[in-house]
Amino acid sequence: MKFEIITTGDSSKTLHLPALNEQYHSKHGALTEANHVYIQKGLEQVIESGAKERTLTVFELGFGTGMNAVLTAAKMAESGGEKCNYVTIEPHMLSEEHYAVFEDESWALPKFYRAMHQAVVGEWTAITPHFNLLKLNTTFEAFTTDLRFDLIYYDAFGPRVQPDLWEPWALEKCADLLNENGTWVSYCAKGTVRRGLEAAGLNVERLPGPPGKREMLRAVKAK
Ligand SMILES: C[S@@+](CC[C@H](N)C(=O)[O-])C[C@H]1O[C@@H](n2cnc3c(N)ncnc32)[C@H](O)[C@@H]1O
Repeated sequence: MKFEIITTGDSSKTLHLPALNEQYHSKHGALTEANHVYIQKGLEQVIESGAKERTLTVFELGFGTGMNAVLTAAKMAESGGEKCNYVTIEPHMLSEEHYAVFEDESWALPKFYRAMHQAVVGEWTAITPHFNLLKLNTTFEAFTTDLRFDLIYYDAFGPRVQPDLWEPWALEKCADLLNENGTWVSYCAKGTVRRGLEAAGLNVERLPGPPGKREMLRAVKAK
């Protein structure tokens, strides 16, 4: 796949796919979006809701640039105490040529970042004392696991580009992957997605979105 590197509204960079006219993150601010949607509305919420003393399990759809994973590892180190086991899937792992572009970014805590990209696919790797990573080279369609998760970062390309990943089967699969009380977050606020999550048995909230997006979605699996 052919990529271009673009600078977004908050000066952080992301990848643009000309063939799909789609980006890995918001053009209004890649880092701001990742922090807002996945860290502030997802991870921080789960940590604050009492997960301090145990190992958190996080699943990410689409490892991509590694931005969500890096921010999560940094937050886990900062909050102290807990550990995070982070499973991420990616059918198109980036080559060094592409991920190296992000190493001069202020957010890209270099040691975590390179270690994450170089972690062996299919093997648990301790990235920090608070963060273990398992990268899998697969699609969500093919992904199977016995693990269940406290938090899902649903970071697929948008419904215009990948409609199938926002269909009821995918949202039901997410609901099944969550632990009781588990949380699903995404930048997407589409009505059909919200209704699909509700139909899958989740309690859905519409929250203020990052710059350029009025709303985002958070959904919790009731006990
Ligand atoms: C919006 S980008 C997310 C980027 C990533 N979370 C990051 O922080 O850079 C979507 C990601 O999903 C991956 N992807 C595409 N098709 C997929 C599929 N069927 N299953 C899982 N991931 C997929 C893409 O390669 C891309 O890395």
